[in-house]
Formats: sequence, C-alpha cells, structure tokens
Amino acid sequence: MKKIFVTRNIPGNGLSLFKEKGWEVVVNPNDRVLTREELKEGVKGSDAILSMLTDKMDAEIMDVAGPQLKVIANFAVGYDNFDLVAGKAHNIYMTNTPGVLTETVAEHAFALILAIAHRIPESDKFTREGKYTGWAPEMFLGNDVSQKTIGILGLGRIGSRVAKHAVEGFEMKVLYYDVKRNEEFEKQFNAKYATVEELLKNSDFVSVHVPLTPDTKHLINKERLALMKPTAYLVNTSRGPVIDEAALVDALKNKIIKGAALDVYEKEPALAPGLAELNNVVLTPHTASASEETRGKMGEVAAFNITESLEGRIPPNNLVK
Ligand code: GLV
Ligand code: GLV
Repeated sequence: MKKIFVTRNIPGNGLSLFKEKGWEVVVNPNDRVLTREELKEGVKGSDAILSMLTDKMDAEIMDVAGPQLKVIANFAVGYDNFDLVAGKAHNIYMTNTPGVLTETVAEHAFALILAIAHRIPESDKFTREGKYTGWAPEMFLGNDVSQKTIGILGLGRIGSRVAKHAVEGFEMKVLYYDVKRNEEFEKQFNAKYATVEELLKNSDFVSVHVPLTPDTKHLINKERLALMKPTAYLVNTSRGPVIDEAALVDALKNKIIKGAALDVYEKEPALAPGLAELNNVVLTPHTASASEETRGKMGEVAAFNITESLEGRIPPNNLVK
C-alpha cells in the first residue's frame, strides 16, 4: 500500500483523493510546523510527501524517506524550499500549485495597496480605540491609487493579474520588469518595460512578484530603496528575502519611501526589528493565498500531482527537469 506523508493538515478535499485509492495517509497531528527531527521521522517509508513552504525539502529528507519515494508535492506555488538538483539525483518528481492561486494573491496585493494608501488598518485601530471624536479635514490623509504609476517586478501570472486590476480597475500606468519582455502584455495594458532602476525611480507603487532565487535575494536593497520616490509605497506578496528587510525598516524610518505593505518576511515568522512599531506599514502573516476557495484548490492540485506520480504518469506541475 502507498503511504503519503502530509506535513500539515490542509483545508478542503484534497486528501480524499488518497483515501479513494485506499492509500495510507499520515498527517502531522500538530497544528504547527514539524521540527526537522519530526519531519525526518514522518517521511520514513513514504511514497509521496505533501509539503508546506515551511518545510525544507532536500537530499537528506529524500534519503531518509527511502528509495520508494516518487514525489514531493508542495502546497504552494513558490518552491524555494525545494532542492530540485537533489530531486533529480533521487529521480523523483517535485511539484507546485501554479494557476489556482493567481487571482487570490493578486487580490491580496491590491488589498495591501489600497490598505496602505488609504491607511485602513491605522484608522480602523484609531476608530475602535474610541479616538474618533469628530470629523476633521486633515484626519488620516492618505493617497489616491487611481491614475498613479505602478511598477510590477516580475511579470508572471500574479504580476500580470495585478497589472490587469491596476489598468482596468484604477486606470493606472504600468511599468514592469521581468527577465523576459512581453510585447503582447505591453500592447494589451499599454505597459512599458523598464529596468529595475527605472521602475523604482518612476513608480508610485511597486509590487513585487518575482520568485525567490539566488538572483532575486535582496533585489530590493538599501541602494535601490534610495532610488524610489519619497512618496512611493512598496508592496511584497512574493517571498520575504527578495527585500532586505532591515534596509526597508531604515528607509521607512528615514522617510526614504512613504510606506510598505508586506505579506512575507525575510526570516518569517520573525519580523525585522522595528518593523512592527512603524505606522507606515501594513503587515499580513503570509496569507495572500488564504481564501477558502483557493486553499481548497491548492490541496486538490497537490494531491493530484501525487496520484499521477504514484500511478506512473508525469505529474502536471513537475519542476524537476
Ligand atoms: C505561497 O506563498 C505560495 O507560494 O503558494
Ligand atoms: C506565480 O504564480 C506567478 O507566475 O506569478
């Protein structure tokens, strides 16, 4: 009988796919990330691992799982927790969940843009605390989003969807940077291709959508933050280490940029010292894809990648080439 090890319970019906096959499913019983030792113990003898972005999936895990291991399926689109070279050496598939979370993450990026520009969390807190004692013309002045310029760093599915909302919903001008130019996208959204530097200099909102790789680590650093307008906002729904978070805290304190809205952190769940004390930030706990609808679909996609692999087919979202 096939054994599937699931590193954390997931919402929705994904796991029922295994039960229908009569396979053994072992789910982490704790409502927390497994320690490395627990993870190693749990994966022993499994044919498939359904992993979270919080689990490092490397050669050691593949070795302790054993030679019957066929696939590791991430419950995430990002896969910087995967060692694909080790996956190839172990002759297994490694998969992610692209597509199903695009709309949700793009919505969350826009929720962050609107929340920081309109100072929603700050004024919500003020109102709840009973501090609203009368209307005032200068209370909580924010900034408009409409007709401003947005810079999209990374024009994958999510970045493109953010651009669509920006143009069709808010008549924004779009600058974008990606390793690949996309002329069709430029025509469709009247978007301009820019270098990272040009984009940072000219955008009112910068939204980050690149995957985390050795090339994108600290893509936004002290020098690049200094290029941004002092009126600009930085939004990150990709991976924390793409931004040098300590440099960002300095930039926010010193008014190098106006504000930031973050869903991801460099050393999450820890926040850079000083970040949480700032008023000009909006912070969410890596929940950009966390809708009931989407998390259910992510579970189904991850589970389907496993069933395909264990039945001898190439899973649709294989990353090991
Ligand atoms: C979430 O961060 C994901 O990569 O799906
Ligand atoms: C990732 O999902 C992307 O393509 O933006």
